Amino acid sequence: MKITVLGAGYVGLVSAACFAEFGVETVCVDPNAEKIAALLRGEIPIYEPGLDELVARNVRNGHLSFAASMVPAIHDSDAVFIAVGTPTRRGDGHADLSYVYAAAQEIAANLARYTVVVTKSTVPVGTGREIARLIRAANPEAAFDVCSNPEFLREGSAIEDFMRPDRVVIGCESARAASVMTALYRPLYLMETPMVVTGLETAELTKYAANAFLATKITFINEIADLCEKVGADVQAVAKGMGLDGRIGRKFLHAGPGYGGSCFPKDTLALARTAQDQGAPIRLVETTIDINARRKKRMAERIIAACADNVRGKTIAILGVTFKPNTDDMRDSVSLDIIPALQEAGAIIQAYDPVGMKEAAKLLSRVSWSADAYAALTGADAVAILTEWNEFRAMDLTKIKSVMKQPIMIDLRNIYKPEEMRTAGFVYQSIGRV
Ligand code: NAD
Ligand code: UGA
Repeated sequence: MKITVLGAGYVGLVSAACFAEFGVETVCVDPNAEKIAALLRGEIPIYEPGLDELVARNVRNGHLSFAASMVPAIHDSDAVFIAVGTPTRRGDGHADLSYVYAAAQEIAANLARYTVVVTKSTVPVGTGREIARLIRAANPEAAFDVCSNPEFLREGSAIEDFMRPDRVVIGCESARAASVMTALYRPLYLMETPMVVTGLETAELTKYAANAFLATKITFINEIADLCEKVGADVQAVAKGMGLDGRIGRKFLHAGPGYGGSCFPKDTLALARTAQDQGAPIRLVETTIDINARRKKRMAERIIAACADNVRGKTIAILGVTFKPNTDDMRDSVSLDIIPALQEAGAIIQAYDPVGMKEAAKLLSRVSWSADAYAALTGADAVAILTEWNEFRAMDLTKIKSVMKQPIMIDLRNIYKPEEMRTAGFVYQSIGRV
């Protein structure tokens, strides 16, 4: 089978490489000429564990190639996947569908045989039907079906998530399109991965409902963490005690500084807007958005409070700036709230992140970027851990104390144990534990 994937970002590139690994002849297209040139040189424009080998192997065996234009690949593709960005539209919180619709127009102009047009991007309810309308209007002769196939991968574990998903959701209303989609996902079907084949609107909404539920679950445990601090309880033990109930589940109950990333913030907002427009507001999601935004802003205050309410002229070391470990993605990272707020309060920032510093330097100013974690800690009055990279989990506490001016640690990811840190002589604060 042959496919074209539009978009060489986190989802497009990973999906293209994984379909190629399934044996599908895949062309990954992106109008960003620099990105395509890098890929043609064998360089991967994003950090995603394992992606470099996967891409290299499939380029070598001829299953995967890259192009700056969808022509001619689309002419003999069984399916074309739209995996372009759907960021928040300025001003109203809705998803910005301009990239999706531009891709649809381009597809319409180039369809040459029956092709399934698949939205892998996260798109609001109604988008699939609008894409079908656009293509039909621009090219009345075109033979195509539109299908929604939302993606549930996480950055940092994207390949594993794509190759071994909990489920595949396919929204389509034609048997012909469904048979193309099931053929593409045949390796997963053989592994007995559940396939939810449903209508377009249902598939589109399923994606937003899943992300909003996970964002709400995190927000719930974050609020329980705040209460734990007041009453002397331990949020990690509470999460374990709750999560062992099979109806609740242990995943996504790690209290922290508030969720970030390229998807939960924008998708919760877009879902809330769609629901308001439809006259069926989802107050729970609206509240989650509000609580999370406030929480992210409050984190800097915690750090300042741990420094005797004054960071003016003090050096604060920051460990981790990406929104989660194992990615270089800075979109909606809590560091973008915390670092400017600390600077505003007069702090000098020394920061280190294993892979995110290049991206972060484009978004944060007046930060002194360090070569490693200990260099960031050298001469610091306090350290704040913002991202739970593995290399921060087992640092040498004696060495940390010897290089810092004062051993104050604010651990927003709960990677150390309060008793252990106090015994080691640290002033230690974490989330939901005293
Ligand atoms: P991204 O910003 O990393 O990449 C988008 C890419 O699309 C860019 O390289 C851009 O140049 C390219 N593009 C724009 N217009 C194009 C066109 N007409 N033809 C071909 N390429 C075009 O975005 P992303 O993080 O990969 O997200 C893509 C979509 O997938 C979004 O809707 C997002 O919500 C969804 N999603 C993302 C993740 C994730 O973990 N990042 C997971 C699941 C779903
Ligand atoms: C998330 C979803 O997990 C994916 O299923 C989905 O496909 C993707 O969004 C998307 O639609 O783009 P991702 O944003 O890559 O994936 O990362 P997550 O692991 O979900 O983390 C998101 C944020 O929540 C991070 O800031 C993380 O630190 C935070 N988080 C996560 C917590 O604070 N606690 C948790 O228990 C889990």
